[in-house]
Amino acid sequence: AVATEYQAETATISNGVVESNHAGFTGTGFVNYDNETGSYVEFTVNAATAGPATLIFRYANGTTANRPLNVTVNGRAAVSGLAFPGTGAWTTWRTATASVTLTAGANKIRGTATTANGGPNLDRLDA
Ligand code: GCU
Ligand code: CA
Ligand code: CA
Repeated sequence: AVATEYQAETATISNGVVESNHAGFTGTGFVNYDNETGSYVEFTVNAATAGPATLIFRYANGTTANRPLNVTVNGRAAVSGLAFPGTGAWTTWRTATASVTLTAGANKIRGTATTANGGPNLDRLDA
């Protein structure tokens, strides 16, 4: 199916802020995760049918350190430590992809920072 774009800046944010100071984002901005373990962004993704789905996270990481996120689906662990390696600059955006299983209807997709560096700057999720 054709992916739907879910902007991070309209998702549920815990310990992060919406910003727009680094060019190249889509929509109206991106989420700057607070640099701490446990900060998260949670998207509500609608699936027409239950089954496997590909999640494509668009992000920037202007550091040289990976900023992994634990990805949960409806509160259950889906991908542990999905890698968000450095992109070279805060204005350089790349994607990280996860394969998950969704239920029909609304699914809560949460990306939680696993290190004291927090997550990357997150632009959107395509699913
Ligand atoms: C810089 C950058 C932020 C980023 C932060 C970080 O402050 O401007 O957009 O989120 O570094 O290291 O997380
Ligand atoms: Ca940050
Ligand atoms: Ca965005």
